[in-house]
This record gives sequence, structure tokens and C-alpha cells, in this order.
Amino acid sequence: MRPLVFAANWKMNLGPAEARDYLATFLKAYSPQPNRQVWFFPPAVSLEAVATGLGNRADLLAGVQDVYWEPKGAFTGATSAPLAAQAGAKAALIGHSERRHVFGETDEQTGRKLAAVLEAKLHPVLCVGETLEQRDAGRTLEVVTRQLETALSGGGGARAATARVTIAYEPVWAIGTGRNATPHDAATVHAAIRAWLEQHEATETRILYGGSVNLKNAADLLAEPELDGVLVGGASLDPTGWGELVRTAAV
Ligand code: PGA
Repeated sequence: MRPLVFAANWKMNLGPAEARDYLATFLKAYSPQPNRQVWFFPPAVSLEAVATGLGNRADLLAGVQDVYWEPKGAFTGATSAPLAAQAGAKAALIGHSERRHVFGETDEQTGRKLAAVLEAKLHPVLCVGETLEQRDAGRTLEVVTRQLETALSGGGGARAATARVTIAYEPVWAIGTGRNATPHDAATVHAAIRAWLEQHEATETRILYGGSVNLKNAADLLAEPELDGVLVGGASLDPTGWGELVRTAAV
């Protein structure tokens, strides 16, 4: 069985007490399976509660949803990669579409954040994806390639680190809309991303799919060998449903 990642992006949901309750329910029903990891991305205020609740184990980890690129200082409201690491983060989402489209983050800023995450020895999950307009204009691969290029050749000579990232392909039109990409559509973009990575000597990089993944469609998506896992928002918020998804979306 190939290694699969099930990543839960809680977005701006579940404070520390709620996170502890969530984990109590999830962990009671969860049993580790070979080659399967579950990653949780809680809001920063709940990071420590989640990291502590998961403990130090290879199949489960906590990560931060976003970081600022400076390690510390007068940046009110921001969380840095080293601070997230202190709270127990092992990974970080970078360039999520909500950071890009709600908060106006640029490709260049995403690159600086990615370099900061690598510097702090966290594992970056770089999110890329096209808008509906870009897809309709046939520009999907151009947009995704530009996002990869800029983020991975950005600050700190991160190109050499291409092999140390996980990529999440999340078409913007599929996030939170209930409209997921078909397994075939996702696989086509994954194959293009994989070809780009191979040109940059990254042959082991995992590529996750995200965008309206749920209990009903996860198994079909993961039946597609191009998908190395899923990044899930809405359907990860209920610990019972999420546990079931992790358990049953097997291939
Ligand atoms: P969704 O979100 O599963 O709610 O579509 C996915 C994501 O934004 O990572």
C-alpha cells in the first residue's frame, strides 16, 4: 500500500477546549494503519492543545495554517515558524487559497514564507490551484506552474528544498463549494505537477488533492494513483466523520 496523508485543515474553527474534545473522540476510534498519516492544522491558538493531545508519534502530527516569514519581532497578530514549532507544530500550510484570495498574499510572499518554514525545520505543505476563470480560460497548468516556480525558487534558495515539500493541489473553485474536481481532472493536474517536480529533481514529493473532499468522494479520489492523500476542510471538523474518512478511504 502506498503512503497516504490525510490532512485536516480546521481553518478558523475549534478553540483549545473544543480541540481537546475533538481529539478525545477521534483518538478513541482511531487505530494506526500502515503507510497512513493524519495531519491536523488547527488555528494557532489551538496548536499546543492539539500537539500535546497527539503526543509524539509518527502517524499523527500537528501543523500551523500560516506563518509570517520573520522569526520574531514587532509584527502584531502574526505567528512565525519558530513560534509555531515551540507550540508543537511539525508542519505548515503555505499559500492556502484563502491566504492568497482573502488576505491578498502574493506568490512572492508565499515563497518567503516557505523559505522561513524550511529554515525552522518544519515540513511545508505548499498549496497551489487555479480559479474558475483561469480554468475556463485553459490556464490551469500555467497558473499552477507559476505558483510552484515562484514559491520554490524564492527567498533563501528554496529551490534546493523542492524535494522537502508536500504539494497540495486545491482548485480554488472546489474549496468549500461542494464541487470537487473529478479524480481524472485532479490526476491530470497532479501528473503535470509531478512532471515539473521531476524536472527539478524532486521525485519523491507527495501531492495531495484538496477541495470539497468528503466521506462520499474520498475513496474514488484516492483510487486515483496520482493522489498521495487529501487536504480536507469542512469534512474534517467532525471527529467521527473525519475518523471514518481516514479509516474507510483506503485503496
Ligand atoms: P474544503 O476545504 O474541504 O472545505 O473544500 C479544503 C481546504 O481549503 O483546504
